[in-house]
Amino acid sequence: MNKQDLINLLEPYGQEHLLKYWEELNQTEKEHLIEDIKEIDFAQMVKNYNRVKSEMDQTVQEFDELMQPVPQELKGSYEKSTPEQIKEYEMLGLKAIANNEVASLLLAGGQGTRLGVNYPKGMYSVGLFSGKSLYHLQGERLVKLKQYANRLFPEAPSEKQNSSIPWYIMTSEHTQESTIEYFRKSNFFGLDKENIKFFEQFMLPCLTNDGKVILDQKSKISKAPDGNGGLYRALDKRSILNDMKKRGVKYVHVYCVDNILVKMADPAFVGFCIAKNANCAAKVVKKVEPDEKVGVICKVKDRFQVVEYSEISEKTRNLRTDDGELLYNAGNICNHFFNIDFLSELCSEHESELKHHVAHKKIAYVNENGERVTPKETNGIKLEKFVFDVFPFSTSKWAKGNFAIWEVYREEEFSPLKNSDDCKKETPTTCRNDLYAQHARWLQKAGAVLDPEAQVEISPLVSTNGEELTELMKGKALKGNLTIELDKSDNKVKINGSLSL
Ligand code: UD1
Repeated sequence: MNKQDLINLLEPYGQEHLLKYWEELNQTEKEHLIEDIKEIDFAQMVKNYNRVKSEMDQTVQEFDELMQPVPQELKGSYEKSTPEQIKEYEMLGLKAIANNEVASLLLAGGQGTRLGVNYPKGMYSVGLFSGKSLYHLQGERLVKLKQYANRLFPEAPSEKQNSSIPWYIMTSEHTQESTIEYFRKSNFFGLDKENIKFFEQFMLPCLTNDGKVILDQKSKISKAPDGNGGLYRALDKRSILNDMKKRGVKYVHVYCVDNILVKMADPAFVGFCIAKNANCAAKVVKKVEPDEKVGVICKVKDRFQVVEYSEISEKTRNLRTDDGELLYNAGNICNHFFNIDFLSELCSEHESELKHHVAHKKIAYVNENGERVTPKETNGIKLEKFVFDVFPFSTSKWAKGNFAIWEVYREEEFSPLKNSDDCKKETPTTCRNDLYAQHARWLQKAGAVLDPEAQVEISPLVSTNGEELTELMKGKALKGNLTIELDKSDNKVKINGSLSL
């Protein structure tokens, strides 16, 4: 491509400013810029921009008049289910896991800017006694979950029993290399490396508020990951769906990287979704207060979607049901279920219908004098898709099955790491404490007696959801700081710390 070809390509879309420094570039830099330009689908980009621009110009739409809660028959919860029902859901999920029909899919392409680290958030260690990172906990939970499912369903075919739960990990340009390297160094946490698949989401150019692509350097276009809803494009274009189908995966559990309490391939959630014939579902926690700033899942006209806090009036946020609960309290925790047919059809036929959201950001750029500047104020936009924007499609004619939500106890399943310890909420400290508190509850339930000051960390290889602890721990009295681990040399459980009996 010579300069004239580039002008011909860019001019129809008003992007010829990208060649402003062309004459100053050496051959390698020119090639680099050409590569960047060739990666962009300018027609699609302009279409996307015009769509979001017209939405930006509208005043914030309030959904009050159109909203309804998710109907009761599509909702399940720990609180309102009997122990027998929960057991039934878990068994359905565990059976599917033993048959390797369930895949775990991690969204790990985010940049973790709020936490302030320059490496993938999953590698972060919140300072547990074991020093384990988020990725490490997740990996070991998958190991143990499969062993548990195999024990309960020994009739599953041996080739299914012998392979670990398929784990798909969506990374981005920012996280791909270091994530793979970290997994390799950690020996894939004891999982089959053939069953772990990394795939990269796509990037989109950053734009000025009037739709011009921003130059990060004279020969480099500024780009950002296309949001966690970039998942659907990547699943199709990176042939991940084909891989799932080849392995016989029927159900996919999607989760975000930063929740230290995440239940991997959650058997109860998966089982509930199978029982309800869900094509697409979300796990939710009750909002703690009307003003908690989380999106809620509800029905708008005849479709399901997440409505942001800012899109609901104060009056509607405060509405309560007869039993005193907030009417709109289904807080989204970025934990989703899909069946493979829904994902397939959506990714191959409807991905382009997913809208973009606009994030106003401070984006480094090359100024009039050719210098790279990092602005102090927001100066441009990033376009992103969101993973939950496929919910409305669950009621489409082509989608067999239905939408569902599964409400869980926050203290058991949701403690995200969003901020550094300078903040009060969602920090390494709150994550650590929430995990220790959960493990203390598991032990008490198993019949152990804990000193009120005791802090215990149970390795996921010993118990991943509180299971199989009674025989080990019944009647034991524990105090101080303890870890309960699996000694890999003899496969025996070791308690490190103080036993007061
Ligand atoms: C997300 C949810 C929000 C929910 C909250 C709970 C979305 C859009 N928002 O918000 O509704 O209340 O979690 O914790 O789902 N990611 C990518 N690629 C990207 C951007 C993000 O893979 O381009 C991943 C992140 O690595 C992370 C997940 O998506 O695992 C969530 O992204 P994040 O930006 O942290 O979303 P939140 O604002 O926390």
